[in-house]
Amino acid sequence: MTTQLWTDAVALEAVPDEDVMAAAVLGRELAFYGVDGQVYVTDNICTHGHARLSDGFLEGTEIECPLHQGKFDVCSGKAMCAPLTVDIRTYPVKIENGRVYVDLGDI
Ligand code: FES
Repeated sequence: MTTQLWTDAVALEAVPDEDVMAAAVLGRELAFYGVDGQVYVTDNICTHGHARLSDGFLEGTEIECPLHQGKFDVCSGKAMCAPLTVDIRTYPVKIENGRVYVDLGDI
């Protein structure tokens, strides 16, 4: 059994509906997505180049990178199209008392 190590990240009300925002958590740059009342969290820097996904365009559960228009599924982190070849890291999320907690794992 693995133990989750939750870090208090941001206020739930700060995460925009059907959009993305960036926040640094313990020095790690993360992207927070509001999708259908759920919150998903990924690394913010694209796996293809140095672009911030928080500057991209969220449509449904897909974030489009602003630099070369690669798309990731924000739920699974899966790279959905060229030029992406590497998935983006996702993080477990829990919501408690109006706060968003993330498990950063072994960073
Ligand atoms: Fe994101 Fe190229 S930097 S697709």
